[in-house]
This record gives sequence, structure tokens and C-alpha cells, in this order.
Amino acid sequence: MIILGIETSCDETGVALYEGSAGLIAHRLYSQIALHKEFGGVVPELASRDQIQKLLPLIHQLLEEADIALSDLAGIAFTAGPGLAGALMVGACVGRSLAWALGIPAIGVNHLEGHLLAPMLEENPPNFPHLALLVSGGHCALIQVQRFADYCIIGETQDDAVGEAFDKTARLLGLPYPGGPQIATLATRGDAKRYHFPRPMTDRPGLDFSFSGIKTFAANLVHQVGQDPATHPDIAAGFQQAIVDTLVIKARRALKETGLTSLVVSGGVSANQLLREELALMANELNIKLYFPRPAFCTDNGAMIAYAGYQHLKLGEKSDLAITIEPRKGVKS
Ligand code: KG4
Ligand code: ZN
Repeated sequence: MIILGIETSCDETGVALYEGSAGLIAHRLYSQIALHKEFGGVVPELASRDQIQKLLPLIHQLLEEADIALSDLAGIAFTAGPGLAGALMVGACVGRSLAWALGIPAIGVNHLEGHLLAPMLEENPPNFPHLALLVSGGHCALIQVQRFADYCIIGETQDDAVGEAFDKTARLLGLPYPGGPQIATLATRGDAKRYHFPRPMTDRPGLDFSFSGIKTFAANLVHQVGQDPATHPDIAAGFQQAIVDTLVIKARRALKETGLTSLVVSGGVSANQLLREELALMANELNIKLYFPRPAFCTDNGAMIAYAGYQHLKLGEKSDLAITIEPRKGVKS
């Protein structure tokens, strides 16, 4: 049962082929980062137009590379949301209509579920139940994963997503989009102790997050010291350390409260090296197992959608013939 997965929720066009026993057969990604760079962030209209141009050629290349014909496909999974409406519509239209033309089922997949399941594509996948820390450009949440499709959010951000805080702070420092990797690189030359950033909501009980305070602290700091590039590595390092400390404190608390012994970390920010290192130290200390997707599958990709779609289709689930997207839907419902 070979499934084609299509991801078009934002500024990446991702396609992949997944099969139960063979696993991930092939995947391809086209990133629009260069297209949006001059605007300092993703321009939704440009994103959807580029998705239209790139998606079909990418599917053709993927099938050719894997030596698989359209007639070999048993189902198609596409990202139904959350994400940018126009960009989502491109993947949904192509996925739904291609499946209809081929007479095979199609399934709309939740993008966040895709991120949650991305570590399942690795050689040593996590077992259920586990705790998931989902850290992406649009989300930050702690999720108790009982089993496939049984997710309970036990903590989430009250304001900015963690990747969003990285991107906004990077822009403040004059760094190009996407800001997360840029801040991480700049921080390697900085002193994280020079400026003491807050660790919001860590001094009271609970598992929710807030990142707008850290971002505002960076803005005030830049205002105070002036736009002096010499201070930027220290600001980047202090900012990154505060974010990582906050995530580690909350993950540790959630592990304690749930009694779970495996932690899965996914979403774009899970590519962050400092976060990986500090979580590894914590996992060692608490004697818990720690799982990440490979770096290429931390950020948006078609493989995680193909995998999640395969699992749903295997259970006999499928979307009806209407082309439906859910730009704002969370992983809960
Ligand atoms: O998961 P993703 O590709 O998109 C969403 O579903 O939101 O995540 C993109 C986010 C961006 O905000 C980007 O700056 C951040 O992930 N990111 C990082 C790193 N690599 C990507 N943040 C911190 N450190 C990184 N190495
Ligand atoms: Zn994503």
C-alpha cells in the first residue's frame, strides 16, 4: 500500500512516498525561503502561487526517482491544516483530485500530527505512550501521546509560538528569514550571561508557555544599547538560552507530572543544537528516552504527511469528495 504524501501548508512544498513494510521510499522538498527573504517573512499570496508552480513537477520527479507509477499508488495524503489557506488549498486540490482521477482514497492530514509522528520515520522510533514537545514556527505545546490519534494537549503557548519568537527577534537584529538558524549561528559567538533574559511562567505551577516577554525584552534591550552589531551575538545567545531553559524546565515538569519516560521533540525548532544538547542532559539525569526527527524532518516535509496519512488510511479512514481545508485547526480535535 504505497501512499503519496503532500505538504503545502506554508513556504515548503514537500512530497514523499511511504509504504508499510518498505517504510519511506522517497521524498523531495522545495523550499521557498529565497522567494520570501527580501520581505523578512512569508508572503501568503506568493507562497500559494509558488506552490501551484512547484507541486506537480515535484510529484513527477519523486515518482520518476522512485520508479513508481501513478497506478501503483493506493492512497494520497495531503495537509489539510493548520496553515496558510491559499497554500493549503493547492495541496488539497491536487491531492484530492489526483486521488479521484486514480480511483483511490484521499485523506486530509493535520500538519501538527505530521510533526508529532515525524520521529516514527527514524530507525529507532519511540513507543507509546510518550510526551511530545512540539516546537515550530506556528506552535509550542506539550502533548501527551497515548497512542496513534490519541493526543492530549497538557500545555501550550499563551501568545507567540517559539519559532515565531526566534523569527521576530532575528528580524530585530537585522537577520534574514527564517531567523531560528540565524540566531543559533550568531549565538555561537556570544556570551549568554551578559544579558539576563526572563524565563516566563517558570516561577509558577503549570505547563503553559509565554514567549512574548522574551521577545519584548530583546526589543527593549536593542532600544537601550542602540543598534550596535557588536552586542548582537550576546543578545542572540542570551535570547536562545532563555528560550531553551524555559522549554527544558517545562518539559521536565511535564515528565514529572505525567510519569512518562519517553520524550519526543519535533517541529522546526527541534533542529536547534542547544535545545538538543540541554534536553539530552536532562534525559540522562532523569533516565528517560529522548527522540528527535532527523534534522531534515524537523521542519516541514512531505514524509511526515505520507506517514500520518498511511496510518489513517490503514484504519479505513478517508476524506469525502469535497476539497476541504482547515487553516486554523489544532491537533486536539
Ligand atoms: O515546523 P516548521 O518548519 O514550520 C511550522 O510548522 O511552523 O518550523 C519553522 C520554524 C521557524 O520559525 C524557524 O525559525 C524555526 O522553525 N527553526 C529554528 C531552527 N531551525 C528552524 N529555530 C531555532 N533553531 C533552529 N536551528
Ligand atoms: Zn510545520
